[in-house]
Amino acid sequence: MHHPHEPPSGIHPLLARRFSPYLFDPSAVVDDQALGLLLEAARWAPSAGNSQPWGFFIGRPGEPEHDRLIPHLAPSSARWATDASLLVVTLTRRHVDGTQLLYSEFAAYDLGQAVAHMTVQAQAMGLAAHQFRAFDLEGLTKELAPNPGWVIVSMIALGKAADSPSELRDRRSAAHLRSAPWSPTE
Ligand SMILES: Cc1cc2nc3c(=O)[nH]c(=O)nc-3n(C[C@H](O)[C@H](O)[C@H](O)COP(=O)(O)O)c2cc1C
Repeated sequence: MHHPHEPPSGIHPLLARRFSPYLFDPSAVVDDQALGLLLEAARWAPSAGNSQPWGFFIGRPGEPEHDRLIPHLAPSSARWATDASLLVVTLTRRHVDGTQLLYSEFAAYDLGQAVAHMTVQAQAMGLAAHQFRAFDLEGLTKELAPNPGWVIVSMIALGKAADSPSELRDRRSAAHLRSAPWSPTE
């Protein structure tokens, strides 16, 4: 039996060691090349009908884009996201025009998958990602004014982790994953 609070051996280290940091090294930098690779990782994710319904707004400390994001962080996320080397706003295109109607039900699913790929790529590059919803969605939407049909879904703080995963990482059991949908208590 593996320890219930950490992934068993056999899980790929990129997945096993991934965690969402609550502390980032403020001196770390994500340069243009690294940023390009993170976007490439998202770009090559699968999506329903290859609709690729994802988009990103990105700011690094010192850039005007970063200044536009910071005021919309919630106090809780501002504590750690401000020090991250990169802030990413994730957007998806739910809007349906013509033949893309078929794909719209998977828009958020596809975006999540692209973000997962970006997260694993970050891990492979010695970076860590903390996805979050703790920001002013309405205010940020007004600020960024995406085209009609595009909606902001989440944010990601990316950078060099300056903390470790908590000792007690809570996860439901693998058996539960197979029984939960039919369990009377769920
Ligand atoms: C869509 C989404 C929204 C999240 N929102 C927040 C948030 O607002 N604040 C926060 O501290 N963590 C947030 N998280 C991080 C989760 O709490 C975290 O992934 C979970 O507790 C598991 O921890 P781990 O990523 O370290 O394994 C969010 C994660 C996701 C995927």
